[in-house]
Amino acid sequence: MIYSKMNNTTTDIPTKIDWAAIRAQFPVLDQEINGKKLVYLDNGASSQMPKSVSDRIDAYHKHEHANIHRGIHSLSQQATDAYEATREKVKNFINAGSLEEVIFTTGTTDSINLVASSYGRKNFKEGDEILVSEMEHHANIVPWQIIAEETGAVLKVIPMNEAGELLMDEFHNLLSDRTKMVAVVHVSNALGTVNPVEEIIEAARERNIPVLLDGAQSVPHSKVDVQALDVDFFTFSAHKMCGPTGFGVLYGKKNLLEDMPPYRGGGDMIDKVTFAKTTWNDLPHKFEAGTPPISAGIGLGAAIDYLTDIGMENIAEREAELLAYATEKMSRIDGLRIVGTSDNKASVISFLLDGIHPTDAGTILDQQGIAVRTGHHCAQPVMDHYGIPGTMRASLSFYNNEEDIDRLGEGIELVKEFFG
Ligand code: ALA
Repeated sequence: MIYSKMNNTTTDIPTKIDWAAIRAQFPVLDQEINGKKLVYLDNGASSQMPKSVSDRIDAYHKHEHANIHRGIHSLSQQATDAYEATREKVKNFINAGSLEEVIFTTGTTDSINLVASSYGRKNFKEGDEILVSEMEHHANIVPWQIIAEETGAVLKVIPMNEAGELLMDEFHNLLSDRTKMVAVVHVSNALGTVNPVEEIIEAARERNIPVLLDGAQSVPHSKVDVQALDVDFFTFSAHKMCGPTGFGVLYGKKNLLEDMPPYRGGGDMIDKVTFAKTTWNDLPHKFEAGTPPISAGIGLGAAIDYLTDIGMENIAEREAELLAYATEKMSRIDGLRIVGTSDNKASVISFLLDGIHPTDAGTILDQQGIAVRTGHHCAQPVMDHYGIPGTMRASLSFYNNEEDIDRLGEGIELVKEFFG
């Protein structure tokens, strides 16, 4: 079953996954950078695309392109069907209750801005509190600050400990009748911490407070079921899950989305337009103004097919294996400090080398063909917590292997030698 689509065959072959064969489906990995075989460990920033996904996008451009939701002609209807098929795939992938609850956006940042702007403008007032955490990415801080400024609401912050785990007692103490939104990251992009979102949602639910989860770093690495979580809003991006850039998802509970005003105006999101008054289209289109990135949407559908064929449980298991291997290996390197040491982590190792600036180290690693991200990872408050300017971050995907991690270890030793 696992290989059926990838090998273009319908046979139920293997019981054990051939991860090397899967890696070979990513053409970009088969190249040299700076004269060395590429080791790509920047999947948290953006993952790579398997051939099946780029082929699907290419085929759309070559044979199927037309604008969607607007044309009576066959090509437009075909493009509409292909694009809308992705909505069905997303619905099944995250187990949304209906297609109306799957809103297409340009990515996680856009999804969070949509909720902050639309839900916040309608529901927040002077003195209301929006609860975020100290480990948020800027995309889950700044949109709330903007709407807070506009409405008189204030931001409250759930602190974390040195391991990079939320202080849950503090969270419970911060919840009050003034709290009008809890917006937290599911998996931290800077630290890898998997947050106890079930506990957060349950506590918020008791007080009837909506919860938004930033799932940009969780959806690519594990099975997410929005109904089992009972989460109100959930956001993620296609380009971190083997899909294209410029496309993402906002899941929202239908009753909440129905009550929210449109976020952007334009074609497709309307029912009837006159100069006197305009009425809105039904969900999900109410939030989807203008011509969307159609090929990217179709690409996300292909990425979901691809991940589903491998199986999210298998992906989670393989990545846990790689993370354990990398953590063990890096813990043995003298002068290396891992930042973010929770027992419950996914696919990320942030680290520092004694006396070496992360950017300098990253430059030397790049010369070895090793791609890691360096800096604050768009999570400056996390760096402020540790009193550091930034870290180096190796973020893993299922198509990485032990050799990539060994190469990273060798690269780090070279960095240490270089800086004496
Ligand atoms: N959020 C992305 C990252 O963590 C850009 O690198």
